[in-house]
Amino acid sequence: MSQHDDKRRRLLGRLSRQFAYTAPVLALVAGGAALQATAGNTSTEAGFAPVTEATLLLASNHGEAEAEGEAEGEAEGEAEGEAEGEAEAQSSDAVQRPDGYTPGYSETDANPQELLVRGEELYYDTSLSTNGLSCASCHGSDGQDMGYKATFEQPFPHRVAMASDQFGMPEVHADEMVQVCMVAPMEAEPLEWEGEALQSLSAYMVEVQRRFAGETHDL
Ligand code: HEC
Repeated sequence: MSQHDDKRRRLLGRLSRQFAYTAPVLALVAGGAALQATAGNTSTEAGFAPVTEATLLLASNHGEAEAEGEAEGEAEGEAEGEAEGEAEAQSSDAVQRPDGYTPGYSETDANPQELLVRGEELYYDTSLSTNGLSCASCHGSDGQDMGYKATFEQPFPHRVAMASDQFGMPEVHADEMVQVCMVAPMEAEPLEWEGEALQSLSAYMVEVQRRFAGETHDL
C-alpha cells in the first residue's frame, strides 16, 4: 500500500467515525417526529425545527469535503498533519482534567445563577464549533434533553459510552464530557480548562443532569 493510500484510508476512517455521531441523532430526530405523529400533536412540531436534518447533513458534508480535499493529496504535508492530529485527539490528553486543575463549579452542590445563565447561553452558541453545530443542535432546545443515554441519570462522575469508546475514559466529570463533545462532535479545540466558558457550561450540564434524572434542579 502506498503512503498516499494509507493516508486516504486514515482520513476515511476519521470520516466514518464522524458519521457515527450523526447517525444516532438522525434516528433520534426521526423518532421524535414519529412520536409526535402518534400523539397527533402538530403544535409542538416547531420544537424540533432547530435540530434539522439539513444542519446535520451540512455538518457531515463539510467533513466529507474536507476529507476529499485532503485525500486528493494536493497538500500532502497538511493532510499528514491532520491525520496525526486525529490520532492525538483519540488519546484522552485533551479532554482529561490536567494536573493541578481546580474546577470552578460543583457536581454535588448548587451552582451560582450567573454560571448557569452563561452556560445556557453557550449551549446555544454555534460559534463554539467549527461545523455550525451548537450543543442544542444535538441535545435539544428548551429542555428537550435529547441524545442522552440512561447513564445520564447518575450524578457526575459516571460512565458515558462515547467517552469510553472514543477516548478510553472509564468515567467522566461534567467538564471532561463537555471537552469530549467539543473535540469530537463539535470538531473544535477543547475549551480553556479554568476559563469561564468551560466552568459555566459544566455547571449548566450538572443541572441538566439533575433535570434528566428527575431531581431538583436550578434551571
Ligand atoms: C453532533 C451531536 C452532538 C453535539 C453537537 C454535542 N453533543 Fe454532547 N453528546 C452527543 C452524543 C452522541 C453523546 C453520547 C451519549 C452517550 O454515549 O451516552 C453526547 C453526550 C453528552 C454528555 C454526556 C451525557 C452523560 O451521560 O453524562 C454531555 C454532558 C454532553 N454531551 C454535553 C454536550 C455539550 C455541552 C455540547 C456542546 C459544547 C455537546 N454535548 C454537543 C452528541 C453531541
